[in-house]
Amino acid sequence: EDDLLQKLPLRNKRVLVTAGPTYEAIDPVRFIGNHSSGKMGFDIAQKAAEKGAEVILVSGPTHLQLDNSQVKIVRVQSAQEMYDACHEYFDSVDVAVAAAAVADYRPKIVADQKIKKNDATFNIELEKTKDILASLGENKKHQLLVGFALETENEIEHAKQKIQKKNLDLIVLNSLNDSGAGFGHTTNKVTFIDAQFNIQAMELKSKEEVAQDIINKILEIQHA
Ligand code: CTP
Ligand code: CA
Repeated sequence: EDDLLQKLPLRNKRVLVTAGPTYEAIDPVRFIGNHSSGKMGFDIAQKAAEKGAEVILVSGPTHLQLDNSQVKIVRVQSAQEMYDACHEYFDSVDVAVAAAAVADYRPKIVADQKIKKNDATFNIELEKTKDILASLGENKKHQLLVGFALETENEIEHAKQKIQKKNLDLIVLNSLNDSGAGFGHTTNKVTFIDAQFNIQAMELKSKEEVAQDIINKILEIQHA
């Protein structure tokens, strides 16, 4: 039993992971989306499962697959659907990691027919989506909550604000400044900041290695 826990430290733990972009409908054939591939979240789900966890992976639209009996994939489209799915599972998990690139805004009105082209300019009024991670933070009981932050300026300061605003135990700050990192790349350069504002800058690594680092960091915080 001791041996098993050494090898599978997340055994008997449930982990919720969000991944991918969200698509916010404009009309029946158009949407607002982003370039998130979903790879970071899928890699985190895989690494958590390898450590013994039962994983619920709530993913926006992506072609990625993950064939692992310990990973249940819940596929969603919009931020609202991702919100609903996350809240369905949150009470039953020990750890939640929000790696999805959730749309911040969605069209206020979704046209029920395809919008025809007409005037030279065209405006779509947008309204805020719900902040999924912040809502999980508000409902947090025993869970360890991990978020991401994508910043282009005052990175550390902004990331610290997100830790407090969303009631997080750990934030993974994505550095876009370093070449070869972020969207559309297979590598990532991240900085970990915990709830006590301890800062740990990591090397440029593959997303798979970053996923492993995140799982290791979660285990470290759990056992601190
Ligand atoms: N997030 C979320 N729901 C949203 C928006 C963001 O769960 N509607 C989560 C992301 O998955 C990520 C974290 O919040 O883990 C931070 O996302 P980010 O886009 O960096 O920050 P925002 O809070 O959206 O603020 P801003 O985009 O203005 O920097
Ligand atoms: Ca955002």
